[in-house]
Amino acid sequence: MKKIFFSISLLFLLWNASAQEVAIIPQPVSIHPQAGTFTLKNNFSVGMSSPNADSRRVAEYLSKKISIATGFASEFGKVKKETAIRFHLSAAKSKNAEIGKEGYLLNVYQDSVSIIANEPSGLFYGVQTFLQLLPKEIESKKSGSNISWSAPCVEIKDYPRFAWRGLMFDVARHFFTKEQVKQFIDEMVRYKYNRLHWHLTDDEGWRIEIKSLPKLTQVGAWRAERVGRWAEFSPPTADEPRTYGGFYTQDDIREVVQYAKDHFVEVVPEIDMPGHSLAFVAAYPEISGTPGKYEVNSGEKLIDWSLPGHPALVDNTISPANEKAYEYIDKVIAEVAKLFPYDYIHMGGDECSKNFWEKNEAIAQLMKKEKLKDMNEVQSYFVRRMEKIIQSKGKKMIGWDEILEGGLTGNAIVMSWRGMKGGIEAAHLGHQVIMSPSTNTYLDLRQGDQLTEPPVYATVRLNQSYQFEPVPDGVDPKLVLGGQANLWTERIISWRSLQYMVYPRSWAVAETLWSPKENRNWDSFVAKTEKHFERMDLAEMKYATTLYDCGFSPKKNDKGELQIDLSTEVKGIDIYFTFDETNPDNFYPKYSSPLSVPKDAVTLKVVTYRNGKQIGKQINMPIEELKKRAGIK
Ligand code: ACM
Repeated sequence: MKKIFFSISLLFLLWNASAQEVAIIPQPVSIHPQAGTFTLKNNFSVGMSSPNADSRRVAEYLSKKISIATGFASEFGKVKKETAIRFHLSAAKSKNAEIGKEGYLLNVYQDSVSIIANEPSGLFYGVQTFLQLLPKEIESKKSGSNISWSAPCVEIKDYPRFAWRGLMFDVARHFFTKEQVKQFIDEMVRYKYNRLHWHLTDDEGWRIEIKSLPKLTQVGAWRAERVGRWAEFSPPTADEPRTYGGFYTQDDIREVVQYAKDHFVEVVPEIDMPGHSLAFVAAYPEISGTPGKYEVNSGEKLIDWSLPGHPALVDNTISPANEKAYEYIDKVIAEVAKLFPYDYIHMGGDECSKNFWEKNEAIAQLMKKEKLKDMNEVQSYFVRRMEKIIQSKGKKMIGWDEILEGGLTGNAIVMSWRGMKGGIEAAHLGHQVIMSPSTNTYLDLRQGDQLTEPPVYATVRLNQSYQFEPVPDGVDPKLVLGGQANLWTERIISWRSLQYMVYPRSWAVAETLWSPKENRNWDSFVAKTEKHFERMDLAEMKYATTLYDCGFSPKKNDKGELQIDLSTEVKGIDIYFTFDETNPDNFYPKYSSPLSVPKDAVTLKVVTYRNGKQIGKQINMPIEELKKRAGIK
């Protein structure tokens, strides 16, 4: 009987440890809670069984991180009996094939912590997981709190599902400093992202110093400053100062690349061409097909997205029929290739307006000479020339899925952003692909109702990010390198607004890219997300809480009247509503079934509660807006 009682108590204890304390994002491959806790003490030691520069760096990273919140000192050395945190790098002949290059085994015992890995990157990811096991106060920026720095005893085996776990950072629309890019890297590695796709050039700015083409940064990195609604800004006047922007010197780039490498992140530069090239054209108009004087875009309207083919109002493209352009591009790629010691260069290739090409005599000649049937084939010709240039520098080319248009030859890797379609098509053609569908992974899109969120053209709620699945049916999984979340920054100026867009959706994508598919579970992800919100508060980081807000699904019923379904992304949340213009609370009617609108009502006001406490925003929704969304005149 005693034995049974003991077993039940132990089980409860284990369950308690796993359910209440272990909230790891991304979810590890396996977690086995054990009895007891490990407590970190001042002057703890970090021991390395086979010390080398990389494992020493990981140990220093851990010590530094721990010392900020705890104030604890630590020492490094060989593993001894009293060593608190033990790193073990497997020797070449005893590598664990199952955990691979980035995996790790983390064992938290009552008297020590052990991280075993084949490579230093595995130690690093083991450290990230261990930090998430410590109390949330470990995220605090100041030490001094009276906390017992305990972690539950646990055995964790972990390794990633995908090799490519990317985050794209657009520093072209708004410039972010070298220090901010490093901070971006600091934040991404906490969730085991390992590729920084650095969007360095666009219509609004050229951010990388190219020594052989100095005007790229002298002219291309600067524009007029604007605040307000993107693409609705007034065009700069002729004498307006162009002092807003910036660029990275080649030393800055090397510093960031090294910093990323030290954190096990590969940096993939994107030089976006032949569209999105106004900064390039402003610096060197001779690469355009349309003679004229050009200026870097300052956020004023540039493309008419409402028309078929999305015509540009100003020719923001590089002309595929212009040999001078290829000469300049060769110079750019030669310098870029030297600065980034990895396999890939991204050539963009997206959203190229062709309306100026259609009127261009040189392009007409090129079409005749090269037997190109239409503008897509002209674009495809340009893509082929790009691949040749990129390969000539010893690199592989990546492009957005538009590079498929007009036919894709060669070995380019396709990054699918207009849904999964491009990725599927490319994989069927035998190309490797990276999936980053805007419908799930675009971090610049709003996370809640358009009435409450900053204006953008579409919505990706947290649960849509979590539904992202990079390997579609019928696609050879070996061709899917992985996936990526993309942060475009047209509307992101401040670091706070950047964090608001990145969290929590980047956690959802991180879990998709790291965790086994069968380990993913929306309800437990939400529970973990809430735990991580507490960590973010202590780290003074911003995040969106839109997952608690009410969602609206208006439709026209059989009688042609408006019917409103309300919902929340998260279970256990109640919605209270009113049509009478007063502000609802939890003593107002609770939503339980689709609503009809009372005669003469003007506004539906809703608010969400959990356990008697307001948790989501109050949203005041005009009935006219709901009718518009339901297609009712
Ligand atoms: C893109 O979002 N234009 C790749």
